Amino acid sequence: TADPGSSSSEGSGGGDTISVGFSQVGSESGWRAANTKSIQESLTKENGFDLKFSDAQQKQENQIQAIRSYIAQGVKYIAFSPVVETGWDAVLQEAKAANIPVILTDRAVDTQDKTLYKTFIGSDFVEEGKRIGEWVNENVATEPINVVELQGTTGSAPAIDRKQGFEDATKSNTNVKIIASQTGDFTRDGGKKVMEGFLQANPDIDLVYAHNDDMALGAIEAIEAAGKVPGKDIKIVSIDGVKDGMQALADGKINYIVECNPLLGPDLADIIKTLDSGGTVEPRIVTHDDAFDQAAAKEALPTRQY
Ligand code: AHR
Repeated sequence: TADPGSSSSEGSGGGDTISVGFSQVGSESGWRAANTKSIQESLTKENGFDLKFSDAQQKQENQIQAIRSYIAQGVKYIAFSPVVETGWDAVLQEAKAANIPVILTDRAVDTQDKTLYKTFIGSDFVEEGKRIGEWVNENVATEPINVVELQGTTGSAPAIDRKQGFEDATKSNTNVKIIASQTGDFTRDGGKKVMEGFLQANPDIDLVYAHNDDMALGAIEAIEAAGKVPGKDIKIVSIDGVKDGMQALADGKINYIVECNPLLGPDLADIIKTLDSGGTVEPRIVTHDDAFDQAAAKEALPTRQY
């Protein structure tokens, strides 16, 4: 079961340290592991924080429970990466009523009331999908292609936005036909299972658009098991740029990756310290993402941090 309360043994307050309750999405992907590590390594005692960390196991109810528990403990700040976009107003109003500032990391919430959080730091997911679509237009869809899409978690900001960005970029290209689209929940196993179904139902798949590397890695397993060559018989494009994804790109099994930077910990620490000393922060902070083809992946791999 989840531990929605806390993994810290200390009470609220924490003396000279700033107490922060962080509710993480889960441990669904390599990206998430890198993100968790970055946050835990940045919000340390030595750096002036008392971090209470919980893993919601990809369930919104666990996150709501964790946030309520942080409010009850009287933490000074709450930060979280919302599993899905909608359904947050009530609990965020409770945090606001308790005077606890909330910071969104990585994923957005869908709310009319922008006073419910101080800032949202993370990538521009629409832009990521768009960059994938533009690369496909230029490098693969110069002739008609059948595309299958492995979507992220249903209702999550990255799944909604990456789908939209790709569609925006490819809608005027009549060569691009999306023949199937289904969620693989951002996991390797999910990507593999959904891809197996796609392969059985569709004999002519030219390209897989995976909303993250883990699902692309699962799709590679399914494609190889079906006797086809990933990266050649069926091209693959994905988002994240985690080590395993970059290795598969360098090995020729993935064709293009747009990065999604998971190293949000240092910026989160800075944001909290700024707020804590009475400063203000921008309501939206967009992080920088690179993009890699196979040659660029080979070059980047030796010094890749995650
Ligand atoms: O919200 C970011 C996304 O969540 C990452 O791209 C994916 O790997 C993760 O599960």
